[in-house]
Amino acid sequence: MCGIIGIASSKLVAQNIIHSLKKLEYRGYDSAGIATIVDNEIHEKKCTGRVDNLEKLLFKNPSKGSLGIGHVRWATHGIPSQLNAHPHSSDEVSVVHNGIIENSTLLKKNLEEKGYKFKSQTDTEVITFLLTDFLKSYDLVDAINKTLKALNGSFALGILFKKYSNIVVGARRGSPLAVGYGPEENYLGSDSYALKSMTNKITYLDDGDVCILTNNKIEFYNSENKKINKKILTLSEDKQFTDKGDYKDFMSKEINEQNITAKTCVKEYVDQLRKDINLYNFPINPKDIEKIVLIGCGTAYHSCITAKYWFEELTNIPIEIDIASEFRYRKINFNNKNLYVFVSQSGETADTYAALDLCKKNNVKTCSIINVVESSIARSSDFVLPIHAGPEIGVASTKAFIGQMLVLFILAIKISEIRKEINKTDYENKIDDLQKLPDLIKDTINYCQDNTPIIAKDFIKAKGSMFLGRGLSFPIALEGALKLKELSYLHAEGYPAGEMKHGPLALIEEGLPVVILAPKDRYFEKTISNMQEVIARGGKVILITDEDNKIISENVRFTLKIAKTNEYLSPFLMTIPLQLLAYHVAALKNCDIDKPRNLAKSVTVE
Ligand code: G6P
Repeated sequence: MCGIIGIASSKLVAQNIIHSLKKLEYRGYDSAGIATIVDNEIHEKKCTGRVDNLEKLLFKNPSKGSLGIGHVRWATHGIPSQLNAHPHSSDEVSVVHNGIIENSTLLKKNLEEKGYKFKSQTDTEVITFLLTDFLKSYDLVDAINKTLKALNGSFALGILFKKYSNIVVGARRGSPLAVGYGPEENYLGSDSYALKSMTNKITYLDDGDVCILTNNKIEFYNSENKKINKKILTLSEDKQFTDKGDYKDFMSKEINEQNITAKTCVKEYVDQLRKDINLYNFPINPKDIEKIVLIGCGTAYHSCITAKYWFEELTNIPIEIDIASEFRYRKINFNNKNLYVFVSQSGETADTYAALDLCKKNNVKTCSIINVVESSIARSSDFVLPIHAGPEIGVASTKAFIGQMLVLFILAIKISEIRKEINKTDYENKIDDLQKLPDLIKDTINYCQDNTPIIAKDFIKAKGSMFLGRGLSFPIALEGALKLKELSYLHAEGYPAGEMKHGPLALIEEGLPVVILAPKDRYFEKTISNMQEVIARGGKVILITDEDNKIISENVRFTLKIAKTNEYLSPFLMTIPLQLLAYHVAALKNCDIDKPRNLAKSVTVE
């Protein structure tokens, strides 16, 4: 993960680097650093913890220089410490890196034999010394090329050179890197979001590209070292999403705007007048699809599980779901009549991207469901379905999950309609239901906002907790447990309620909080029986249901009665109390809600 920034300017750059690093903290926040060139010398400052700490350091001892690079780290090689923080500099070069150098041990050994003394435990420092070494015998471009060729693994790099003190160099293989065009200065950034306050003119580097920035020029080279031109994109304005407004943190803002996410998404895909869904130009005619494979990581993977239920219900297409980090290394029998669907908020997740790349190499058709439309995954897919959630800043995904599920649901009903597997009335009814969904989400947020803080107290003292559901509520149980783990660092298990008796029941003891997701669907009675089994063993049940019947709530510690909707839309509403519950447990524990420990929003390493 990690975030990179670089600025080549004629003015002092440190303040803008700090400002941009704060925006990149979602990618890593265990240490931060900056290097600038002052009087033809490299000056480096770094510290553990947040960018705020680096800012304080610079306040006491400002960094001068009109050329600089900055970094926020998410540790891979070596503990979070000042020595392991980036940049990693020699007398000649300074490097910031996002990614993993897989052959670093071997490279390090060779460099040590040549007399280079390593200060850190990172894989990045080999890049610093390789460049330093090649610069002794080669000019700038050749030294960069020789260094990049020696590296296995993934990287996005920002580099400063003592000898070439008017340039910042960027290079990419596997990890994302953007270039921004400003007034009398140019930028390098891990994403466009970090550059947005400085420019809206952006270019994305492709794998193998190298760029050389001065304050008034940007040159690009491809992997064959040929000079190339790249397209400049103009970014759209989305200030309302990147500002916390009156909210305490981005997560509460993002939970609260899920009705807007749903509304925007429905508006983009649904034509209410024609009662139809605007989805055309499928890479394979839906009538010919033999199988759909849904692939993602983390929360995105949970949306894939939900979609499996929808697709199976609405179409006759066999559905497979896969975790990207597993898919990419298995022996897969690719079939060009299958549609491979990749779900990712960031569109940069390394495992998901690698799985997509594998599909492309096997010449099969790909579709991506993403939030960041300029992302690597979106740019590499045959068919892109944006979720229109706007930037999601909180590391634990919330509104993107709602958006991912919604687009998957919309895709399922459209494919079903094209294949004539749903009748016209049913299709139109589902479109009407979609129209009502944003308001139902809003009502659920309002209701659960007031009711979840009290429930949260039970979780603080408990050894762990369990989330149970059947059918469409099963992936939501998984998501509820994941949210709680991510945000509050408490152990939580998500299970299909029917599977409980095959092991997890042993965990139930007096006072263990167990969240039961029981919408009034075809599984309702069975789920309630499972709930009784939990109550009989002393579990403290939190029942989330849309059923009125008071009897089912007997012996239940808390009941959250959410709005009624059609069975297939219940995941959207069931998700909300679980997000809020995790939020309030974390708040009671004083955890850092937007930036949970050890995690990062965009996971660009394996
Ligand atoms: C990280 C985030 C999760 C997210 C997962 C997949 O682990 O912390 O919230 O679900 O990555 O990310 P993606 O951007 O591919 O949806």
